[in-house]
Amino acid sequence: MQTIRTSEELARVRTELRDTRLALVPTMGALHAGHMALIGEAKLRAEKVVATIFVNPTQFAANEDLGRYPRREAQDAAMLQTAGCDLLWVPSVHEIYPKGFATTVHVSRLSERWEGKARPGHFDGVATIVAKLLVAVRPSVALFGEKDFQQLVVIRRMVEDLTIPVEIVGIPTVREPDGLALSSRNSYLAPDERRRAVALPRALEAARAAILSGTAVANVLDEARHSLVDAGFSRVDYFALVDGETLEPLDRPQPEMRLIAAAAIGATRLIDNLAV
Ligand code: PAJ
Repeated sequence: MQTIRTSEELARVRTELRDTRLALVPTMGALHAGHMALIGEAKLRAEKVVATIFVNPTQFAANEDLGRYPRREAQDAAMLQTAGCDLLWVPSVHEIYPKGFATTVHVSRLSERWEGKARPGHFDGVATIVAKLLVAVRPSVALFGEKDFQQLVVIRRMVEDLTIPVEIVGIPTVREPDGLALSSRNSYLAPDERRRAVALPRALEAARAAILSGTAVANVLDEARHSLVDAGFSRVDYFALVDGETLEPLDRPQPEMRLIAAAAIGATRLIDNLAV
């Protein structure tokens, strides 16, 4: 696996690979089996796999965890190599946002609710960096996890609206044996918080079962929020049933729907979601 740091080096390698079908897997590092599932699927869909590691400052608000976000490039590179990744691009902040940088990609409506409401500006940062990575790498296919379901929906919308010639593929969430979704932020959880965190996927599973058995949606969502507080979550930002494409909230079941949730346990904020 070749590691690339500068844009010039990337441009040179990209020219050499002009006739090669590339898959892109963007990450912020601190890699785990969820990221590796994206690499595995990428290998099946392209001749060469390009991963990026970039802890993107513009998607973190001032009060968020940019400074303490886990960084372990050597370990990440070893995992990528083992998984069969061909190229790793690790740009610097300066490379991505040089002096004078002034452009933001904003996906209206979709970016403004749920995670966007809890984390203002977050999806502008995500859409802008993903657009830049797609333009620089020009992959045939780019892979994203359903773990960040709203992010996947926002990116699909952006790619369609800007007519970026890439196929966006969503990969099912990889979970711990007890059901907790793998996340780089799980490392923030103290052991007792980690034990209680399983209430989040359990609440989603219980809500799905209740909705499918015909219980009124409003009652199901109330019950789910209470179960999280009872399990020791300090705050529930949202627990909603939404349309899988528009993310509009639903008060009764329909064919394409998703349960989405965000809740804090101690100082750590977790998100998860489930297809219904
Ligand atoms: P990061 O959180 O590192 O995630 C990189 C990719 O891995 C995302 O597409 C995410 O949805 C996926 N992923 C994370 N946990 C997963 C899990 N348990 N199962 C399956 N996929 C999982 O998401 C980002 O970085 C950034 O916002 C990024 C898209 C790189 C832009 O900066």
